[in-house]
Amino acid sequence: MSIINYIEKYRKMNRTLFTTPSHSQGEFISPDSIRLLGKKFFQCDYSELEGFDNLSDPKGIIKETLDNAAKIYEAKSTFFLTNGSTSGIIAAMLAILNKGDKVLIARNCHKSVYNALVLTGAVPVWIMPEYNPEWGIFESINYNNLAQILDNNKDIKALFITNPSYEGAMTDINRISYICKRYKIKLIVDEAHGALWNFHRALGIPAITIGADITVQSLHKTAGALNPCALLHIEKNSTVNPDDIQNALNLISTTSPSYPLLVNMESSIYYLFSNKGKSKIIELVKNIDRFIRSMKNTANVQVYSQNNDITKILLKVVNMSGFELSNILFDKYGIEDELANEKSVLFLTGLGTTKNKLKKLEKAIIEICKNNIRLFPDDDKNNSFVPIEPTVRYSPSQVWNKESQQIKLKDSLSRVCMEVIADYPPGIPLLMPGEVIKQEHIDYLSSSRENIKVLA
Ligand SMILES: Cc1ncc(COP(=O)(O)O)c(C=O)c1O
Repeated sequence: MSIINYIEKYRKMNRTLFTTPSHSQGEFISPDSIRLLGKKFFQCDYSELEGFDNLSDPKGIIKETLDNAAKIYEAKSTFFLTNGSTSGIIAAMLAILNKGDKVLIARNCHKSVYNALVLTGAVPVWIMPEYNPEWGIFESINYNNLAQILDNNKDIKALFITNPSYEGAMTDINRISYICKRYKIKLIVDEAHGALWNFHRALGIPAITIGADITVQSLHKTAGALNPCALLHIEKNSTVNPDDIQNALNLISTTSPSYPLLVNMESSIYYLFSNKGKSKIIELVKNIDRFIRSMKNTANVQVYSQNNDITKILLKVVNMSGFELSNILFDKYGIEDELANEKSVLFLTGLGTTKNKLKKLEKAIIEICKNNIRLFPDDDKNNSFVPIEPTVRYSPSQVWNKESQQIKLKDSLSRVCMEVIADYPPGIPLLMPGEVIKQEHIDYLSSSRENIKVLA
């Protein structure tokens, strides 16, 4: 029986509960919460009662749904993550890596990778993806460099890749997976932004179907689920033991998982797999395609289209910084983007992105280009980003809880950083604890901060 059907059945049983959660399925809800959220959500919020299952050791209704999900995703096992891809990334690394193990990581990773490095005690070896200065974004790693690093570091245990990148740039996972198999290392793919791929292969090829041992996907990012619903999949032929993933998840997860989130994940997966779901994705793709075509026909607008996931629309207006375009869209049109950089602006789309929403954006950009509205000085252009190769003096776990001190940024050359410095979004680390501060870091950060935390 599905989780949803069981909750509906259980509600009809009219049981009298003396259990958590203490709102007793909405008998008490603080007034502001009910005003804003309504009652229905609370009415689905149960603990592990008779007939319910246990997310930390699923044997009943949750297991049934997860087994169905694994079939849908063509995985050996699928896991619900009620704390986002963040928890899946940490669990994947905890399951595969031991203290002192080397892990190769493409630097355009989410900052949760730092959490995983602290908790596993693994030692990062970084590979810099190629940087596209025209767009101000990281793209794929260089496959020859990858093989070279693996040749020089025979003790690397796993490779961690983010695909698609936050901005939608793609890496050829087929090729990477082939290289990983040749070097006998595990491949973890952060596919947080690719949760629609299993249902519309033209958007991207899901890593789980081309040899990645573990794939993590955020259902909330593109697939229309609540924050922070996400999934972890183990590939069919992978030697990763599902018990190791379950144990790792149990180590970092609450013992009171949210049934409303489980309901939302279950129904999202079944919906995505249904004909209605497929039509909905096709409609989204059609609307985005139409928007992109219109932008490409608009003078002075450029759209990033280099083998990318089109649900992430990255565009720029000639002679205008991304920050400037972003500010105009916000102040004059009430349009909020996901992220702006010096060169471009990123708009995230997903199942909730309607044709009308895209039309509004299209109209605003066409108007901006026509009138060439320039409301803001181009100050941000001075804050040029250059990719900086990290130098690891200590692994993040080695400096965890070590004594630190705040010093002036200008005096920090060659000191060991003790902060994760990552603009959010996208949360890609510029510096991590244990890394050496270089002159390029100081130059880049000097416009945004005065002080920095260093190892005492
Ligand atoms: C590339 C990438 N990976 C992982 C995450 C973390 O995902 P979640 O919010 O589901 O924990 C994010 C969040 O922004 C992300 O952009």
